[in-house]
Amino acid sequence: MKTEPVVMGIETSCDETGVGIVRGHELLADAVASSVDEHARFGGVVPEVASRAHLEAMVPTVQRALDDAGLALGDLDGIAVTAGPGLAGALMVGVGAAKAYSIATGVPLYGVNHLSAHIAVDTLENGPIPEPAIGLLVSGGHSTIMMVEDLAGKVTQLGASIDDAAGEAFDKVARLLGLPFPGGPYIDRAAKDGDRAFVEFPRGLSAPKDQERHRYDFSFSGLKTAVARWIEARRADGEDVPVNDVAAAFQEAVCDVLTRKAILAAKEHGVETILLGGGVAANSRLRGLAAERAEAAGLTLRYPRPKLCTDNGAMVAALGSHLVAAGVAPSRIDFPANSSMDVEVVSLANTL
Ligand code: KG4
Ligand code: ZN
Repeated sequence: MKTEPVVMGIETSCDETGVGIVRGHELLADAVASSVDEHARFGGVVPEVASRAHLEAMVPTVQRALDDAGLALGDLDGIAVTAGPGLAGALMVGVGAAKAYSIATGVPLYGVNHLSAHIAVDTLENGPIPEPAIGLLVSGGHSTIMMVEDLAGKVTQLGASIDDAAGEAFDKVARLLGLPFPGGPYIDRAAKDGDRAFVEFPRGLSAPKDQERHRYDFSFSGLKTAVARWIEARRADGEDVPVNDVAAAFQEAVCDVLTRKAILAAKEHGVETILLGGGVAANSRLRGLAAERAEAAGLTLRYPRPKLCTDNGAMVAALGSHLVAAGVAPSRIDFPANSSMDVEVVSLANTL
């Protein structure tokens, strides 16, 4: 009997050193070491600090994942690693480690795309992804609407943010409100006690004139500026800033545009399933509003639990396992880490 592939995934594109192990769609281990506390006082991720933290955490995190899964390196059928996009120095640590493990054990190596991995992680929770599906990928670095025709190799970008990513907007607005870094979860929490309709903040690229060129694109930089101006004006009048209300109104503007455009993309492409992925997909209002609107439109909505939305190694392992099962060839051992890896490249080929 053929057993499902056991794959280890290594993720180091930002500030999380993640090592996950899966068997088919079953999650066996999800070890994450985060350097977020070391970046908090700078209000953002410091690349050099992240790289050094990855170096220190890499081997112990691999060992922890293997121990949790009750496996040895020799039990693996594949090793997958985030080849990009992300911070160059951080990616290099993961790619270098994955190559070393692959060479030492003879286990095939897959250099994969971080964004497709954010989509693939849903298989660990909800089983195989119905294809085609629309992926709404919202993280600290990306806000992208993807058409997933084949998760093993055919993913196309329908639209993306033309300026700040959604997570970046959350983090910047949190800073304006005096909330800690990373701001997304703090805004989410504050907004629960706030009034969504307190201010009507702008919905970027939603005007009729934008529907031609930017139909599925996003823009969050104007929204961030609008929040900053609103707070400044309030302070200039000597009044307190109602943090919960501003957080709720800002969050509503982001979630409104993200869900509206993802649903439009699904409807216009005749696709029945929408998947949420990436750190911002942990947002409770995004999940709630997407569920409401998907139901009203007769679409199926899927998303993984919040812990699997933010960066982790399990998502890389999930994509690796999908590639192994689909018979995709491993990557050439000399592939480079690529900080600006094309969204549409799911995994690196074994040819130049
Ligand atoms: O996917 P991720 O962990 O890393 C990247 O690939 O960028 O996403 C991190 C981003 C951060 O901007 C963080 O503030 C945001 O995801 N985030 C959230 C929530 N949890 C994390 N944003 C809104 N609501 C949340 N609950
Ligand atoms: Zn990510």
